[in-house]
Amino acid sequence: MPEIKVPFYGHVRQYHSIKKEIDDAILKVLESGNYVMGPALKQFEGDLGKYFGMKHAIGLNSGTDALWLVFMALGIKPGDEIITTANTFFATAEAIWIAGAKAVFVDCDPKTQNIDPSKIEAAITPRTRAIVPVHLYGLCADLKAVGEIAKKHKLAVVEDNAQSIDAHGPGWKQGEFSDAICTSFIIQKNLGTFGDGGAVVTNNEKIDAVVRKLRNHGSTVRSVHSMGYNSRLDDLHAAILSVKLKHITKWTDRRREIADRYTKGLKGTSFQLPYEPPGYRHAYHLYVIHHPKRDDLEKYLVNAGVDAKLHYPIAIHQQEGYPWGQAADMKPNVPNGEKNAAQCLSLPMFPELTNDEVDYAIEQCVKWDKAQ
Ligand SMILES: Cc1ncc(COP(=O)(O)O)c(C=O)c1O
Repeated sequence: MPEIKVPFYGHVRQYHSIKKEIDDAILKVLESGNYVMGPALKQFEGDLGKYFGMKHAIGLNSGTDALWLVFMALGIKPGDEIITTANTFFATAEAIWIAGAKAVFVDCDPKTQNIDPSKIEAAITPRTRAIVPVHLYGLCADLKAVGEIAKKHKLAVVEDNAQSIDAHGPGWKQGEFSDAICTSFIIQKNLGTFGDGGAVVTNNEKIDAVVRKLRNHGSTVRSVHSMGYNSRLDDLHAAILSVKLKHITKWTDRRREIADRYTKGLKGTSFQLPYEPPGYRHAYHLYVIHHPKRDDLEKYLVNAGVDAKLHYPIAIHQQEGYPWGQAADMKPNVPNGEKNAAQCLSLPMFPELTNDEVDYAIEQCVKWDKAQ
């Protein structure tokens, strides 16, 4: 039997650490009688916009909806092309397909695992409308470079920030070089509610107005509708998120402390460790190492009580049945994205992990590495 068990998620630990604040916020909503499009949602949208230093935040029911509703607001239609990476969570591409567009995958940088800006221009065609950089694992993509390419070719930039709240680049913040930021509040995210949620954050008046309308059956005035959907963030989740937002910086700081501990402890091993370019603040949604014998390492760690997981072991274009009749293309191929899928392994990472748990996970990794 393993000496200790190191869990991958700390949802309940986090709840217990701020239980009174969360319980009070939930009770307040329950007693208010307002559960959908109520004051708690309004409050959270204000809090989130302020946090990002941006004009508008629109609460939605998922990060996936945040992406495709922004695509709709940008007027993207069938035949249009959107550039992104293949080594991301499936929803990034799924949102492109929901909007009816073609997903065009370019390769990632082998150190950051984020979109490689030097490969973007070769993928641009007269049908290209937008670039979606994913800030994978909590590290911002090179938004400055992406923004310059987008400006030159008159393309929109939509940030997939589902994993990267509280991250920034050297001297710039998210939102500075894009049209909109799309985020997710599903429980396992750095800012996660007890269920599903998402948001769009933007300075663009049109995106704000259109997404706000689309999320509520095409309506901003009672009984007056145009075509829309139901994608609202419930007030209970909004109230929980307002509480958690107050703690996000402290939680990211702790994630960064844990990452530092991992990096020091794994120095000198044969693992490829996460890379934080100078001046960036990596939010360490995940601490991902790479190794050619990843599957063996995963089994070893799980047997030793360290709950390692894989993000994401099958790149989107390698999923069975791809592209399911949807429009998709690769420019020209994505060897770094495929390597990321084949070699990635995520070690436990959440702010409530103890140093002893982190040290035990390090010890097991080092033991496995020495035996290779
Ligand atoms: C990179 C990325 N994009 C999009 C999403 C979709 O978010 P959601 O699950 O809230 O729809 C997620 C997370 O689930 C994600 O990690």
